[in-house]
Amino acid sequence: MEYRDPHSYADLKQGTISHIDFDISVNFQNHKLSIINTYQFSKPINGPLFLDIKDLDIESINTKKGALEWEVDKRDDVLGQRLHIKGLSGVESIEIVFSTSPEASALQWLLPAQTAGKKQAYLFSQCQAIHARSVFPCQDSPGVRFTYKARVVVPAPMTAVMSAARERVDEEKGSNICYFDMPQPIPSYLFAIAVGNIAGKDLGSRSRIYAEPEVLEAAAWEFGKTEEMISEAEKLFGPYTWDRFDMLLMPPSFPYGGMENPRLTFLTPTLIIGDRSMTNVVAHELAHSWTGNLVTNATWEDFWLNEGWTVYAERRILQVLEGEDYVQLQSQIRQNSMFRDMELFGMESDPTRLNFSQEGIDPDDVFSTIPYEKGFSFLKRIEQIIGREKFDPFILKYIDTFKFKGINTEQFLIFLRENFPNIDDNINIKQWVFEPGFPQDGPAFHSSMLDAVDNSIRSFEEGKLPDRKDIENWRSEQIELFMQRLPRVLDRDVCRSYYELFDLGKTRNRNILSEFYQVAIASGYEDIIDGVEETLANVGRMLYLKPLYRALCETKWSKHLAREYFEKYKSGYHPIAAMVIESILKKASV
Ligand code: BES
Ligand code: ZN
Repeated sequence: MEYRDPHSYADLKQGTISHIDFDISVNFQNHKLSIINTYQFSKPINGPLFLDIKDLDIESINTKKGALEWEVDKRDDVLGQRLHIKGLSGVESIEIVFSTSPEASALQWLLPAQTAGKKQAYLFSQCQAIHARSVFPCQDSPGVRFTYKARVVVPAPMTAVMSAARERVDEEKGSNICYFDMPQPIPSYLFAIAVGNIAGKDLGSRSRIYAEPEVLEAAAWEFGKTEEMISEAEKLFGPYTWDRFDMLLMPPSFPYGGMENPRLTFLTPTLIIGDRSMTNVVAHELAHSWTGNLVTNATWEDFWLNEGWTVYAERRILQVLEGEDYVQLQSQIRQNSMFRDMELFGMESDPTRLNFSQEGIDPDDVFSTIPYEKGFSFLKRIEQIIGREKFDPFILKYIDTFKFKGINTEQFLIFLRENFPNIDDNINIKQWVFEPGFPQDGPAFHSSMLDAVDNSIRSFEEGKLPDRKDIENWRSEQIELFMQRLPRVLDRDVCRSYYELFDLGKTRNRNILSEFYQVAIASGYEDIIDGVEETLANVGRMLYLKPLYRALCETKWSKHLAREYFEKYKSGYHPIAAMVIESILKKASV
């Protein structure tokens, strides 16, 4: 099926990249990667070849027969540049010699002070959605897949890890040379690398946690249930095809909760709180091994296929491990966030549609929980209509039919209707997928844990604080939900009593803190400002940064602080986070 990817300059009719050999030297002095890449194509290429790049310094492009001519077109802030390689005739392989810019949007170069150990520098990549092009020339469209091998030279005693099998490490004159092999084809956005003082500990026969040595043990405990998750997931979705499921605990500036880099999921350190209460993020990234990494959205306009399916799969895993009551609670919390996001964009706005044209739009600007939770609700609604007995074989068939392929929204709907010819009798698919807002027939959530929170909110409305004994046995998600349900503005005294009741001075759960800080800022409860500043200084996860900066901007007493803190701490943010926060401040005229 032909489709257009508005986020890539590549012309896939010219042929596609099928394999890349990376030879990478990591230079912490000038914050550059010097790279020699050898590309293989799925068929010999004749005529021009267009690749995506962003701020790369191209030195030469060669074939076995000699150098090729090339040209870099005008730079677009979002898309980067088109690299136009000229006059190929029957070329099956090319070599590109180039280096990255210190400002590469995918890469963050950390000073030792920004790491857990504080002794060595650190580098990591975040390529999704369209930042791989700032690391290497590619057809940066998720429908194109290639295998890769890599040789990575890093200064000793550092080491490198990648979204690939780690073959061996050789020591040579002050350098460590790490070899990688990725035999399963992946789209460019799943390329990943990290370099630093990284140690590993086995969690089981096919999973290992990597982290800085200072935080390795804590991480190993927090993710101690990973093998169990993998085997439960296999029962639901079929065999795990990526051989290993290793994880890398990132430095605090990592901009996401998790990133499903194949064979090496990246995870924010904000998950490490000593009670395993945030491991749904691991279930989510693991679930991407089937939905996303195996069956991949063809373009970022189909992002809901990646994330909606993955949230559905995450909750199926958690239903087995934690029970349905817990899943209902989680679903409610995150649906609340979705409605907030819808309101922020506007209930009639394009980003509230599952599928909308992203021509001229930066995927980072429209990133939200909407494709996740509206996508989940759509799939859940379909499951309700046709019943789980029939939906489960459909999931397996979906994965098997589209594995190692890109799929767009249209193809998915065709496949759905092929398998359930009467589906349109019971659900308005056009409304769910193409129209803004949230349909009336979305699933509702019920659980005794939800009821307990509702009761406390009701007593709050009658002017009563919950009793310590009412909340004693609450799971942290219940506290989070309670915070979500509070009115946005409270009396300062009430803020203080909640702060004390829930012992927020001690909690390490940033989901709870983030919810509370938003209310506290709006309420003028200034006592929390040191806590807010501590968060903005030390945490790069956008899930926390974005609402805190927004809350600061929206309230009179704190407005000036938004810009002040951003200027103070932005050098510690990942380039993607810095860009996203800058645009929040600009929109608020701060
Ligand atoms: N793939 C996403 C993260 C992502 C999305 C990075 C788009 C860049 C662009 C990842 O799987 C994800 O969804 N992470 C969530 C986890 C949560 C939904 C459990 C996160 O980071 O919070
Ligand atoms: Zn995801």
